[in-house]
Amino acid sequence: MRDAKRISYFRRAILLTLALPACGGSGGSPADGGEGGTQDETALPATACSWAPGVRNACDWYLTFVGDPTACAGFNGSGTAAECLVVCGRTGTGQAPDSCYVGPDGVDASAGTLSCYATTSPCHPAVPPGNGGRRPGYFASLGFGPPAAGRELGTHFARVACMEAGSIEAFRSMRHELVAHGASKRLVRAAERAIRDEMRHVRQTAALARRFGEEPIAPLPVPPRTIRPLFEMALENAVEGCVRETYSALECAWQAEVATDPVVRTTMKRIARDEMRHLALAWAVHSWAKGRLAPDARARILDAQRDAVATLRGELRADPHGALAREAGLPRSYQSQALVHAIESKLAG
Ligand SMILES: [Fe+2]
Ligand SMILES: [Fe+2]
Repeated sequence: MRDAKRISYFRRAILLTLALPACGGSGGSPADGGEGGTQDETALPATACSWAPGVRNACDWYLTFVGDPTACAGFNGSGTAAECLVVCGRTGTGQAPDSCYVGPDGVDASAGTLSCYATTSPCHPAVPPGNGGRRPGYFASLGFGPPAAGRELGTHFARVACMEAGSIEAFRSMRHELVAHGASKRLVRAAERAIRDEMRHVRQTAALARRFGEEPIAPLPVPPRTIRPLFEMALENAVEGCVRETYSALECAWQAEVATDPVVRTTMKRIARDEMRHLALAWAVHSWAKGRLAPDARARILDAQRDAVATLRGELRADPHGALAREAGLPRSYQSQALVHAIESKLAG
């Protein structure tokens, strides 16, 4: 039942994003450089909305306020780079935000949150998006360079096939650790089903790569598997499952709606069905693990999730290549940022 609620929350987020008008500020001009500072001395906005400082990380920071988002920040939802600079200010080292999002607090109806992100180098070096969901630990640093001109579609799906193969191992490892840490049979069975799903996804995305003239990229060799402490397992799931795989599920569902290539659309519809289940599994494991961890461990996990959201926003800052947006149906930057916001809003819950 809780799985169904989680899936329906994210399905609603996709529908709301599909209804966004074809404009949007995030993904605007990159901010100027500067060192990614840890000391953020941004002044609070000079509007009468009781602004207060929130969490301050090196490359993202949050402000809270009391009142209506439009009245307090001057906009609602994603801001343009210029709007973000006005309300977010700069970090203590002079770095301007390149995206920001304002919206209701989600807990206190009279309050709101402004999230500011400085995602340009050196905060987050440019890493092309690699939709493929949950990565095993040894995949985390895997990055790809820009594709050759005219080969964007095939290259994209060749890389996705590689990432899907990584997800097989991520779920194998998760299954072993769920058993070792005494999780319910329901969670273990869901992880086993996810392994089979990911094996199918490799075949499906490899076929798409070949459809567009490329051979799928072979995955990295699997290192020996170990059983980690619950905290490490929960941390990985919180980032790779609740943030990255959840985004991947939303992106697949988006592609199933908007891709102009009929084979991509049909394939993504099938994959999205599975990925929505994986999304629900990630959040179910998250809530199971959180119930067994001390408050300071839970706080560290939440910090890691916020960092992962900022990294993801950075990876999605630029619009995809035209062919990827049309034939593969990848969302434009402002649409991706809205989908990420749906995930971000769920984090503190
Ligand atoms: Fe997958
Ligand atoms: Fe998945």
